[in-house]
Amino acid sequence: MSDGSVINQDGKRNTSDSNWLSQVQIRHALQADLPSMEWESEYSRYRKVYAGVFQKTKHGMAVMWVADLPSVGLIGQVFVLLKSKGSLTLADGFRRAYLHSFRVRLAYRGAGLGKRLMEIVEDDLRERDFNEITLNVDRNNLDALRLYRNLGYLVVGKDPGRWSYQDENNVLREVEEPGWRLLKKMSN
Ligand SMILES: CC(C)(COP(=O)(O)OP(=O)(O)OC[C@H]1O[C@@H](n2cnc3c(N)ncnc32)[C@H](O)[C@@H]1OP(=O)(O)O)[C@@H](O)C(=O)NCCC(=O)NCCS
Repeated sequence: MSDGSVINQDGKRNTSDSNWLSQVQIRHALQADLPSMEWESEYSRYRKVYAGVFQKTKHGMAVMWVADLPSVGLIGQVFVLLKSKGSLTLADGFRRAYLHSFRVRLAYRGAGLGKRLMEIVEDDLRERDFNEITLNVDRNNLDALRLYRNLGYLVVGKDPGRWSYQDENNVLREVEEPGWRLLKKMSN
C-alpha cells in the first residue's frame, strides 16, 4: 500500500496505522478464530471443513496458521496437513506435509505477507523434521503459481482437483477444480 495506511476488512481505511505488516502476528489458530475464517460469509460453506481441520490440530495431524492484525482481525491463513488419512502421497505424517487453504485478504495482498506465511510454515516443518511440502493450485491461478515457483516449488503433475465436503447446511458439495500438483523439497 503506497500511503502506508490500513484497509479494514470492510474496505475502510484506517490512516492512523502506518506500518501494518510489522504489526501482523502469525500464530496458531484458536477455536475462537473459526468464525473469522469465514470472511463475512464468503467462506461459510467451509465451516465444517475448518472445524475438522481444527480437530486434527488437537491430534497433531494438522497445523492452522493465521495472520492476525490486532487492529483489524484475521487477514490471512494457511493450513498444513501433516498426516492424511486417505492419501499418503499428500501428507505421510513424518516426511511430507500438504499445504492448503492459503489466502490473504485482498486489501493486504502483494506486500509480502503470503511469502512470510509460507516461510513460517517451512521453518515449522523443518523443526518437525519434514522435508517435503505438497500443494495443489488451480490451473488458472497464475499469480499463486508464480509465488510458489519463486519459493522453490516445482510442478510435479496434474491434479484432477476432485473432492467433496459438507457445507454449513449439511449439503454435500462436489468440487472439480483441475490444477497442478506442486512439490518443494526442503533442505534441513
Ligand atoms: C496467493 C496469496 C495468498 C499470496 O498472498 P500475498 O500476501 O499477496 O503474497 P506476497 O505479497 O508475499 O507475494 C505476492 C507478490 O507480491 C510480491 N511482494 C512481496 N513482497 C513485497 C513487498 N514488500 N512489496 C510489494 N510486493 C511484494 C511478491 O514478490 C509476489 O510477487 P509475484 O506475484 O511476482 O510473485 C494471495 O494472493 C491470495 O490470497 N490469493 C487468493 C487465494 C489464492 O489464490 N490462494 C492460493 C491457493 S493455491
